Amino acid sequence: MILLDIKNLKITFKTSSESLLAIDSISFHVDKGETVGVVGETGSGKTITSLSVMRLLPSNAKISGEIFFNGSDLLKISEKEMDEIRGKKISMIFQEPMTAFDPLYTVGTQFSEVLFKHENVSKLEAKKRSVEMLKLVGIPESEKRFYQYPHEYSGGMIQRAMIALALLTNPELIIADEPTTGLDVTIQMQVLNLIKRIQKTSNLSILFITHDLGVISKMANRIIVLYLGKIFEVGTVKDVIFSSIHPYTKGLISSVPTLKTVKYEKLYSIPGNVPSLKEIGEGCRFYSRCPIRMNICKEKDPQLLEYTKGHFAACWAANADRNLVHSYE
Ligand SMILES: Nc1ncnc2c1ncn2[C@@H]1O[C@H](COP(=O)(O)OP(=O)(O)OP(=O)(O)O)[C@@H](O)[C@H]1O
Ligand SMILES: [Mg+2]
Repeated sequence: MILLDIKNLKITFKTSSESLLAIDSISFHVDKGETVGVVGETGSGKTITSLSVMRLLPSNAKISGEIFFNGSDLLKISEKEMDEIRGKKISMIFQEPMTAFDPLYTVGTQFSEVLFKHENVSKLEAKKRSVEMLKLVGIPESEKRFYQYPHEYSGGMIQRAMIALALLTNPELIIADEPTTGLDVTIQMQVLNLIKRIQKTSNLSILFITHDLGVISKMANRIIVLYLGKIFEVGTVKDVIFSSIHPYTKGLISSVPTLKTVKYEKLYSIPGNVPSLKEIGEGCRFYSRCPIRMNICKEKDPQLLEYTKGHFAACWAANADRNLVHSYE
C-alpha cells in the first residue's frame, strides 16, 4: 500500500536575476511500513524535496507536481488541513536537534505542546505520554528529564529526544534528513538501531535522507539516487548497491570504504565537483564527470527506464546495449 506518492515534482527558485530548476520532475513513492533512502551529494535536492512534503519550502520556491499522502494531494489542501498533518501524521527529524527545540522551554513543555496541539489530552496525560516516549528512546531518568531544558541534555541524548518528539503523535511517515550526520559512530549506530527497532513495532514509513550510502544500505528497503535534482537510479538496496547500473551510483559506492571495496584498496572518488544548477544544459547533468560518456549524453537528457522489475536508471551508456523496457512510474 502506497503512503506517499510524489509525481512530477518540480521546484524552482526565483532570485532577482534568475530562476533555477532545483528539482527537475522527480517521481517516487513510499509504501506503508517501508524505508526509502534518498542519497546524493550536496546540492542534489534532498532537503528541499523533504521540505516540499512538509510544505515548508522558502517563499522564493515555486513548486509544481503532486504529492499524494494517503491519497490526498498535499499541494492542494488548505494551510489549516496541512497544519493538522504536519507534526501529527508526518514528522521530521533533522540533522541539528537544536532546530527542533526551543532553548527557552523545558523539553517536557515542548513535548506536551505537540500533544495539546494535535490531540485532546489533559496535562497529566501529556506528561505521562511524553515521559513514556523519552523512556522508549532510551533516555534514563525520563521523569526528571521531562523537566529539563534542551541544553541540559548531551548531544546523543538530545538526538534521541528529537526522535521521541517525532514519534510522539504516532505519525505514519517520518522524514529523517541526515539524522545522524556529525554524531560519533557509536551514537550513530545507537540512533539508527533505535529508529529500526521502533519501526518494527509500528507500521511507520520513513523517508531517510543522507549522503552516506553506508548508512542508507543498513536502513532502507529501497534507495533513490539523486543528482542535481534528478533521479539517476532507483531500486532495492540489493539492486542499487550490488547491481548498480548508473556510473554515478557506481562511483558513490566505490568511494565508501566498507561497502564493497577490498579493505586496503585505494578508494575511488568521482572526478570533479558537482556543477552548479546554472551549468545544466540539454544533455545529461553528469556528463562532465562521467567516465563512460557518449556523444548523445551531451545532447539529450536520459530518461529513467526499468532494467529489472523495480530497478530503474537514467543513463544512455547503460541503455545502449539493451532493449527498452518500461518507463518509470
Ligand atoms: N532558498 C533558496 N534559494 C535558492 N536556492 C536554493 C534555496 N534553497 C536551496 N536552494 C538550492 O537548491 C539546491 C538543493 O538544495 P538542498 O539543500 O535540497 O540540497 P541537499 O541535497 O540537501 O544538500 P546537502 O547534502 O548539502 O544538505 C541547491 O542548489 C541549493 O543551492
Ligand atoms: Mg540537505
